[in-house]
Amino acid sequence: MTTNDGRRSASWFGASGRSGMAYRSWMRSQGFTSEVFDGRPVIGIATTWSELAPCNVHLHRVAESVKRGVWQAGGFPLEFPAMALGETLLRPTAMLYRNLLAMEAEELIRANPLDGVVLLSGCDKTTPGLLMAASSTDLPAVMVTGGPKLNGKYQGTDVGSGTAVWRWEEDLLAGRMTQEECAFAEGCMSRSDGHCMTMGTASTMASMAEALGMQLPYSAAWPAVDARRYETAQRAGQVIVDLVEKDLRPSAIMTRAAFENAIRVNAAIGGSTNAVIHLLAIAGRLGVELSLDDFDALAGDVPTLVNLQPSGTYLMEDFCYAGGLPAVMRELGGLLHGDAITVTGKTVAENVADAPCWNREVIHSLGAPFQPAGTGTAVLRGNLAPDGAVIKQSAASAHLLKHRGRALVFDSPEAYHAVVADEDLDADENTVLVIRYCGPRGYPGMPEVSNVPLPKKLLLRGVRDMVRICDGRMSGTAYGTVVLHVAPEAAAGGPLALVRTGDWISLDVPARTLTLEVADDELERRRSQWQPPAPHASRGWTRLYTEHVQQASSGADLDFLVGASGHDVPRDSH
Ligand code: FES
Repeated sequence: MTTNDGRRSASWFGASGRSGMAYRSWMRSQGFTSEVFDGRPVIGIATTWSELAPCNVHLHRVAESVKRGVWQAGGFPLEFPAMALGETLLRPTAMLYRNLLAMEAEELIRANPLDGVVLLSGCDKTTPGLLMAASSTDLPAVMVTGGPKLNGKYQGTDVGSGTAVWRWEEDLLAGRMTQEECAFAEGCMSRSDGHCMTMGTASTMASMAEALGMQLPYSAAWPAVDARRYETAQRAGQVIVDLVEKDLRPSAIMTRAAFENAIRVNAAIGGSTNAVIHLLAIAGRLGVELSLDDFDALAGDVPTLVNLQPSGTYLMEDFCYAGGLPAVMRELGGLLHGDAITVTGKTVAENVADAPCWNREVIHSLGAPFQPAGTGTAVLRGNLAPDGAVIKQSAASAHLLKHRGRALVFDSPEAYHAVVADEDLDADENTVLVIRYCGPRGYPGMPEVSNVPLPKKLLLRGVRDMVRICDGRMSGTAYGTVVLHVAPEAAAGGPLALVRTGDWISLDVPARTLTLEVADDELERRRSQWQPPAPHASRGWTRLYTEHVQQASSGADLDFLVGASGHDVPRDSH
């Protein structure tokens, strides 16, 4: 049997004696002929397919296309499951399990006879989770995201997943829509396979994977049901075999330059604030220096080019037909590091050199952007957020970006929801809603609860936005003047825990400040009375998570998972 001794899988399938027989014989129960053990690259296909993760439910078919490509290129493909995280079903929040997926996938990649891996993701957390695993193990890897759903269609108009739900909820509360109309509309919104088709977190992270160079050009935007999604998957199967031959690894692709590209692309596409946390976590696995402030500094001169919901009008299907991410990256030109290498083996500049734009309504030019530079994600600091907080300016109301108001404080989103319809709620349009204990440790898992709906009595008066401040996250499909990711979080003893109803808070986004107008000595007095909340769990994953999770400003990874592990097996029992 010919083996390539330099190849990782050869120490399994090229082995002689009893152990080699065991490695090969048990695999042959699947009907493989012996040629598959001839030293060809063994390619793992990590799939987050599950019927409990509806955005990823078609990934088993995408995997078949990847396998075609791997076989074509002379590799040996083996599909394996990794934890599927369905954003809509998992409680308390899928984010609680992103690091568990990353840890599971990391261990599976390392423990098995793999030379390279194709990562199949879709729903929000599955993309960063798998990228974190690939970063830590640093075996050649290509990502294939599952693609967005087709545009939702309701009463003759396009409706975006997630974004429409926020609006319908407000319409329901305000009596503009009935429960029956909502039930009908639900079906109109989700009418094909795929992840949310707004520029929410899933579309953002798919775009980030492409901007980082980890998935093939155009991969982020092909609709899930488009034949070219499957063509791209087949191509990815060919590409991973080539990457193994060249030994081109994630650490050589996801460099500081690649992260700078991703941050700038995120600003140009009006991407989700969740990209901040996920990119910080991925960079942490690679040892790439990246800070919260980089997101503000690098995005400051990048205008928003893409007119997609929730900040704009269109949806991912329109984005695809307009030219997708390559058209955006070509337009950004010199704002990107064109020499960054990608999984194609070519540079960013080479990949997008001829990328056309077919619709300037959807993908604007730098000369006539959709929104001017400086309207992307801003990083705020002040005595209320010493380690930072973020706000998505493009999803906020311009008149609230500088605002001073009295705090109305709730220790959980549930406490707020219990009174949201109360006619006597002491709130007006100037009130600053503070929702706390929603951070990584606090909830736990840092759920997307920050953009709580407005009080019913204000909605009925026609108020459509208010300042909200929270240590949790906001769905990438949501909008509003919402200050997020306040760090340190309340549960970690951050100043957010010390705010009281009636305190004055001033938000000044142009100055990048968030200030609690309470004297230091009074804050110290309150701190001395503050009691940390009781632990959420005495056992299991939630205990491990809450004891080790880092703050949002660092990416909310577990402290012991930061950094690379490599792909060497600690001990081989055979
Ligand atoms: Fe899965 Fe939005 S719920 S991508």
